Amino acid sequence: MSQHTAAHPVPALRRVVVTGSAGFIGSHLSRALIQSGTKVVGVDRRDPGTDATAGANLARLRERPEYVHITADLRDCSIEPLLIDADVIFHLAGVPGVRPSWGPRFGDYLSSNVLATHRVLEACSRIGTPRVVVASSSSVYGPTDGAASAETDRLAPASPYAVTKLAEEQLCLAHSGKLGGPSVVALRYFTVYGPRQRSDMFIHRALQAALTGQPLRLYGDGHQRRDFTYIDDAVTATIAAGAIPAAHGPINVGGGATASLLEIINIANGLVGRDIQLEYDHAHSGDVITTRADLGRAHKVLGWQPLVDLHSGMRAHLEDLASQHPSLSRAA
Ligand code: NAD
Ligand code: UGA
Repeated sequence: MSQHTAAHPVPALRRVVVTGSAGFIGSHLSRALIQSGTKVVGVDRRDPGTDATAGANLARLRERPEYVHITADLRDCSIEPLLIDADVIFHLAGVPGVRPSWGPRFGDYLSSNVLATHRVLEACSRIGTPRVVVASSSSVYGPTDGAASAETDRLAPASPYAVTKLAEEQLCLAHSGKLGGPSVVALRYFTVYGPRQRSDMFIHRALQAALTGQPLRLYGDGHQRRDFTYIDDAVTATIAAGAIPAAHGPINVGGGATASLLEIINIANGLVGRDIQLEYDHAHSGDVITTRADLGRAHKVLGWQPLVDLHSGMRAHLEDLASQHPSLSRAA
């Protein structure tokens, strides 16, 4: 499936760096890049030899000669040697998650999302890396009136996490304005899901609850809506952002439609053939009611649009989860 119009052919990338490559989005991106013939240096502070999630995310990738994995923390490692001869750095490393950013972990959010990004950008300027694609977030918009958010809208981050993602994005734009600075695209991903989605995220938890029969904790009334984005769509947009010469600035990457958490639960129930047992919990601070992406700029600049609808994406996600737990049989 191609997601690009003829007006925006995506040139092949020769050699790139992917930070956060042991994570959910980074591991999918790295795999797609090597499949298209690109050599990838993956960098992540999680060691796939000792961290089970990183090991699973990188399982088949590490066998490929086109992929080299470096276990390093971007807050203090030497970054320049990694960048030599790279066409693009896809900087996805960071501490994600809205709700845990209140409280004592904020130092890690700040140092990994902001300080480490500053180090990456300084290294790019010194080495002359032409393009940086950075993972920003729909959370930078904060609460909205429910209308689609465009990149030119006012930003009002409502959680400490969102503040660090906005700072990261702004830092990138400041570096790109410097003489000799890289050209930077900040992708505002909207709640990405699919195989190997982080286990703290809702769709993963809903499908897991449907498969296992264990209860699902619902924060709030379940009417909050997200512009859920399938991982393959997010990856295609990300590669285009690295390769297309004219791309610059923030760009929304959304799934093209919104769904409420209750709708997700209904789809999961239907796919598995068993009703999820719900446990109601309080809504969390910083958790916005609705995210909805205006995809006009993504279409215009990247020639990209999402292709995978929620039902198909959740089915693929479920198949992957079920294959990891063959003992879990479906009710239907
Ligand atoms: P993830 O946690 O699966 O992956 C992030 C990776 O970054 C992890 O493997 C982690 O070890 C690594 N990392 C963190 N700090 C690091 C450091 N200091 N040095 C080296 N490696 C470090 O998360 P994800 O869901 O794949 O998200 C990837 C990026 O996209 C993050 O920056 C996140 O903020 C952003 N994002 C994600 C979503 C989403 O829906 N998943 C939406 C919007 C933005
Ligand atoms: C997700 C990612 O976790 C963030 O890193 C990212 O920046 C953000 O998307 C984004 O789009 O920018 P979020 O939308 O909160 O954040 O995604 P989920 O963690 O999947 O949560 C979605 C909704 O489900 C939230 O309202 C949350 O409160 C709810 N939820 C989550 C539950 O009710 N129960 C759970 O067990 C988990």
